[in-house]
Amino acid sequence: MGGTPADRRGRPLRDLRVSVTDRCNFRCTYCMPRDVFGPGFAFLERSELLTFEEIERLVRLAAGLGVRKVRLTGGEPLLRRELETLVARLAAIDGVDDLAMTTNASLLARRAAPLRAAGLGRVTVSLDALDDATFRAMSDVALPVARVLDGIAAASAAGFDEIKLNAVVKRGVNDGGLVDLARFARDGGHVLRCIEYMDVGGTNGWRLDDVVPAAEILDRIGAVFPLEPLPPRYPGEVATRYRYLDGGGELGVIGSVTTPFCGDCTRARLSAIGELYTCLFSGSGRDLRGPLRAGADDEELRALLDGTWRARDDRYSEQRADGTPGLARVEMSYIGG
Ligand code: GTP
Ligand code: 5AD
Ligand code: SF4
Ligand code: SF4
Repeated sequence: MGGTPADRRGRPLRDLRVSVTDRCNFRCTYCMPRDVFGPGFAFLERSELLTFEEIERLVRLAAGLGVRKVRLTGGEPLLRRELETLVARLAAIDGVDDLAMTTNASLLARRAAPLRAAGLGRVTVSLDALDDATFRAMSDVALPVARVLDGIAAASAAGFDEIKLNAVVKRGVNDGGLVDLARFARDGGHVLRCIEYMDVGGTNGWRLDDVVPAAEILDRIGAVFPLEPLPPRYPGEVATRYRYLDGGGELGVIGSVTTPFCGDCTRARLSAIGELYTCLFSGSGRDLRGPLRAGADDEELRALLDGTWRARDDRYSEQRADGTPGLARVEMSYIGG
């Protein structure tokens, strides 16, 4: 063994998305609907979670196999105590040259500066609407959207290399606010990325009718702020990029439903309890915590990572587009967006 593994479709391993908790203080209808994730829901126990040492070790081994990009996710990653400590450890790993986090930003205002100081490079904030009523219809949380905007402002002040805003688009709920979101992002110098509502997990009651296709999203925003396409920055980029003709910056559209991008997908996901998932839509992951806690040495763990990636054949979004029936899938809040 040696070098960087390719999976059965020739795709290398480049990105690792690390979930640090399955909990979240929001209940977005498309991700953690409250009727399922209610007071009785059994979230993971703290003792089950990988420790920072364990995460660091796995990320270091993954970097040895080719991972260059690491993204911290959840649930909501800022609910994990002392996340700054983990950031500092991951930022120091050889080979990890892009360290990012996806957050709902409701707890970001006081954490942005320490996270930046610890070595976090980029932040992606989930922001589905700018008015309280629509924000609440999407996130099902009794917070003013101002809390999220304060978090974004703090991140801007902290000097991150980049702040992206992710908006999941649900027809009839927040699609009327797309142009406002685009304007807000342009004014702040951020990249807005509109995401087609996906059938992740099994609880959000997804229907194709709720999806606003990427092409329609582009038409609506482009009608107000004319756009032209940009080439991908790297193979397998999730978002298709556009630039505003007036120089107002960049817009991304993530069309996982209408334009799947599995062909170049280089992403693996590590759950909060140390399972390696090779697809966002997998039903199960390879347990790494068991061997880790049983005393496996680096060579054994590396072989597990390597073997899991080489065996990978996933291309769920393409199969959905082909009409292949879906299987039982893990929840997005468990595996990380
Ligand atoms: P950058 O590192 O800034 O390029 O971000 P990214 O391309 O990794 O995107 P991000 O992590 O912000 O993901 C945005 C959204 O795209 C996620 O929340 C998902 O909804 C969707 N997404 C990301 N990765 C995948 C994937 O592998 N498959 C599918 N189907 N959707 C994905
Ligand atoms: N469809 C598309 N994106 C989703 N996310 C969560 N659930 C869905 C879904 N059903 C993404 C959003 C959010 C991130 C944490 O996960 O981008 O910002
Ligand atoms: Fe929480 Fe993000 Fe899921 Fe919303 S999308 S419930 S903020 S993890
Ligand atoms: Fe990658 Fe699976 Fe998403 Fe396709 S559906 S892009 S294989 S994570």
